[in-house]
Amino acid sequence: MKKNEKFALITTPIYYINGDPHIGHAYADIAADIIARFKRFDGFRVHFSTGTDEHGIKVARSAENAGIGVQEFSDIMSEKFRKMSRAVNLSEDDFIRTTEPRHLKSAREFWKLLEKDIYKSTYSGWYSARDEEYVPENEIVDGKAPSGAPVERMEEESYFFRLSDYQDRLLDYYEKNPDFIVPIARRNEVINFVKSGLKDLSISRSKFDWGIPIPGSDNHVMYVWIDALANYITSLGFPDNKDYVSEMMGNCIHVVGKEILRFHAVYWPAFLMSAGITLPKRIFAHGWWTHNGQKMSKSVGNVVDPFEIIEKYGLDQLRYFMFREVCFGEDGDFSEDALKNRISYDLANDLGNLVQRVLSFIQKLDGRLTVNYDFSEEEKALFTNARQMISRVRCLMEKQDLHSALGVVFDLVSKSNKFTNDMKPWELVKTDIPRLNAVLTALCESIRAIAFGIAPFMPETAEKIFKFINVEGKLFTEIDVNFTDQKFPSPTPLFPKEK
Ligand code: MSP
Repeated sequence: MKKNEKFALITTPIYYINGDPHIGHAYADIAADIIARFKRFDGFRVHFSTGTDEHGIKVARSAENAGIGVQEFSDIMSEKFRKMSRAVNLSEDDFIRTTEPRHLKSAREFWKLLEKDIYKSTYSGWYSARDEEYVPENEIVDGKAPSGAPVERMEEESYFFRLSDYQDRLLDYYEKNPDFIVPIARRNEVINFVKSGLKDLSISRSKFDWGIPIPGSDNHVMYVWIDALANYITSLGFPDNKDYVSEMMGNCIHVVGKEILRFHAVYWPAFLMSAGITLPKRIFAHGWWTHNGQKMSKSVGNVVDPFEIIEKYGLDQLRYFMFREVCFGEDGDFSEDALKNRISYDLANDLGNLVQRVLSFIQKLDGRLTVNYDFSEEEKALFTNARQMISRVRCLMEKQDLHSALGVVFDLVSKSNKFTNDMKPWELVKTDIPRLNAVLTALCESIRAIAFGIAPFMPETAEKIFKFINVEGKLFTEIDVNFTDQKFPSPTPLFPKEK
């Protein structure tokens, strides 16, 4: 690691492979991807990891039901998630599978670092295989876990982690690092949960063997959540390069769904404290998508297939919709009608139209803008707006306020459309060519800023725009492109109607 270089680790959760990828998984992927792409634009060296979580009783049972061996089942299912990464244009640096030898080694070494906090005892309680966790008696309602999953009685010899010893240290950490858990409402939930008292955590299973064997034991496998959480450091090369691992963890943003926040914001930090590894910078908990107002479930048959939606409406269209429709951190509802509206109003009418008409006007000037403009106050105001937009986006992205960041970019789209209407280039072309050059230059500058703003969200669209205006820069800091010494290519529609 070089001095003065800025680093960031961005992670998605690793996905359970007992079912096919759905829109909720695509959402987690795209969210982390937007954050990773933004950081790269902002000059950070990013390590972005994703992958599949392949151990545990749930996967073993699914393989059994499918009538194939569990490793073969894992290979097939993991491949589907890899395919989803390609389908959503994920810019990951690593796709990790928990059945890989590198992870086995890493998880076992990680376990060894926790040994001073581990003891053996007997556990008896209600286990939810679907959530892969024991559910406290007082949280069981009508024989079910709070998630609605069925529970079963289990009694087994188990290794325990002294989580109770970490209660005060965790609370102290949350207090000193107010931005560790975001959004704030989720942070408060975690704090209340920890304040209500932490019990030691059962961290091994002996009733099944589809897991990572525990060092020094021949009949226990690791609790799937220790195994899964350790993926983040495996991806960094743990157990090698411990300094690098700690440094990167300190600059890490974990993107997780609200239902797995507890694992990331309570257990994982306690494990890391015990292991002497730096805690992540931030854990961002996002909300859940319903479909036409209903919870998605296989049994209801209303699960949205990301591959189908992307095929039908286009990838950038989906990426835009998911982060424009709903505040990142809150729940949202998916409907094709809402998606279609966003595509036709925001994308085709506002953004697509702006780019198309500005660039078509430049074609009327033989594809070239002339030097030496005399910018009027209106053009200067648009330049200022474009610059301010970039710095506002940076501030918002720093807080992972993806929704507002996108809002700020589209505000500039509206302003630019209004500016075009006010300046009436269709009249200037007949009356005042120098002024037309000035107006179009200001609009190009604004479009350039817009392309930077949307680039993390809609990478392919941004790429097209960059090509239209001959911009090759890949950093937010590269401003002041000279639009005067170049020939602009003829534009094609950004959001063709047939998509
Ligand atoms: N394997 C664990 C994570 C281990 S991370 C060390 C897991 N996997 S999961 O496949 O069940 O969920 C992965 C992510 O998908 C979670 O962050 C979850 O919130 C997200 N989603 C699953 N369904 C979702 C929606 N309907 N809406 C939004 N996101 C949802 O948990």
